[in-house]
Amino acid sequence: MKTLIIYATKHGFAEKCSKLLKDKLSGEVITVNIKKDTMPNISSFDKIIIGGSIYMGKIRKEINKFCTENLDALKSKKLGLFICGMQKDNIETEIATSFPNDLLTHASVKESFGGEFILKNMNPLERFIIKMVAKTKSDVSSISEESIDKLARIMDAL
Ligand SMILES: Cc1cc2nc3c(=O)[nH]c(=O)nc-3n(C[C@H](O)[C@H](O)[C@H](O)COP(=O)(O)O)c2cc1C
Repeated sequence: MKTLIIYATKHGFAEKCSKLLKDKLSGEVITVNIKKDTMPNISSFDKIIIGGSIYMGKIRKEINKFCTENLDALKSKKLGLFICGMQKDNIETEIATSFPNDLLTHASVKESFGGEFILKNMNPLERFIIKMVAKTKSDVSSISEESIDKLARIMDAL
């Protein structure tokens, strides 16, 4: 069984999660940074996992575009979806607005892997927003290994 993990990241957290996820999955697993890597032909994969980080309520636009453009092909795959974000209150809504409805219904698992704020990696505007909105003055990391484990377990069992 071949699995493809497609992710989009701005500051590296979704990449970190994708690599952790890769190590937990069995069989051949390939990770693709949608912005940097060449996309392989998705028809040669049995399982596809797609995820990315959320900024101002929206998933990275490359993920949105990829999902919309490859809807039919993705609906024929065993599918898992994930988001990365610091919001804990409305995870369901963030997941629901991050992917096309058809994929949300088709996916076998949808998880949030948590997120992190690393202030030195942010641009000045991001730092300002985070200080004002999240009232954070220092780095915070909140990775949900439990959710990564769960997604890996469900995808492995398919
Ligand atoms: C300017 C800004 C806006 C953000 N907006 C959201 C948001 O709307 N919802 C959320 O859950 N997390 C939000 N986050 C948190 C990011 O999703 C989190 O930092 C994540 O770990 C980033 O992942 P990345 O490094 O892969 O891009 C925001 C972070 C920044 C800096």
